Amino acid sequence: MIMDMEKAIVIDFHAHILPELDHGCGSVSMAQKQLELAAKAGVDMVVATSHFYPHLDTVPGFVQARKEAYDRLLEESLAIKNMPELLLGAEVLACKGMERMEGLEQLCVEGTKVLLLEMPFTKQWEKPLVDSVCKLAKKFQVILAHADRYSVDSVQELMEAGCLVQLNADAVCSFKKRRLCKKYLQTGAVAALGSDIHGIKTGYRKFIKAQKVLGKSGEHVMKKTKELCRKAEAQA
Ligand SMILES: [Fe+2]
Repeated sequence: MIMDMEKAIVIDFHAHILPELDHGCGSVSMAQKQLELAAKAGVDMVVATSHFYPHLDTVPGFVQARKEAYDRLLEESLAIKNMPELLLGAEVLACKGMERMEGLEQLCVEGTKVLLLEMPFTKQWEKPLVDSVCKLAKKFQVILAHADRYSVDSVQELMEAGCLVQLNADAVCSFKKRRLCKKYLQTGAVAALGSDIHGIKTGYRKFIKAQKVLGKSGEHVMKKTKELCRKAEAQA
């Protein structure tokens, strides 16, 4: 698809939508339901970001399994009306020393240098881990997945190193997290919105609501996401 840069498009930058690749999607039929919900929600493009765990997965193994899941899904989803474009990516769990990992570029959003990185669920990140992410930010455009799970202060150093952030639709809609999301928006580092869809649950309801909550800021975020994804076409 050649993207019309003037046209506003809706991109879900974080979705567990490929069948049997992680706990987010158990079958082709579930992936189809997720895609149908995305289509009905007016989503034009979904970045498929299945989990990549460096202590469990290998890059070649993951890439092969991802391709097979993608091919199977596309083959069986021709009938979906207004099927969103699917871009392959990954949600990569950060670990120290990751900057030395071979083949990491294959986990970037298809054809780009954009890497969706998940920070570990610990209260404080060790310095060597933060240093590794800062080094990664020199090689890739790192996007920190669901930054709404961390305080702005805790990711400040990473943002200063050039990392951008992605917010989850759930957090944008949550009364508790609304202030935090606003704070992130004020930093100018929010580059993407994600459904982070796992299974069906509330589907794309929150994703639709989040766009309404964000209003104009949401449109700016989508523009940034489009710009990041467009590089895939420029390099194709
Ligand atoms: Fe996720």
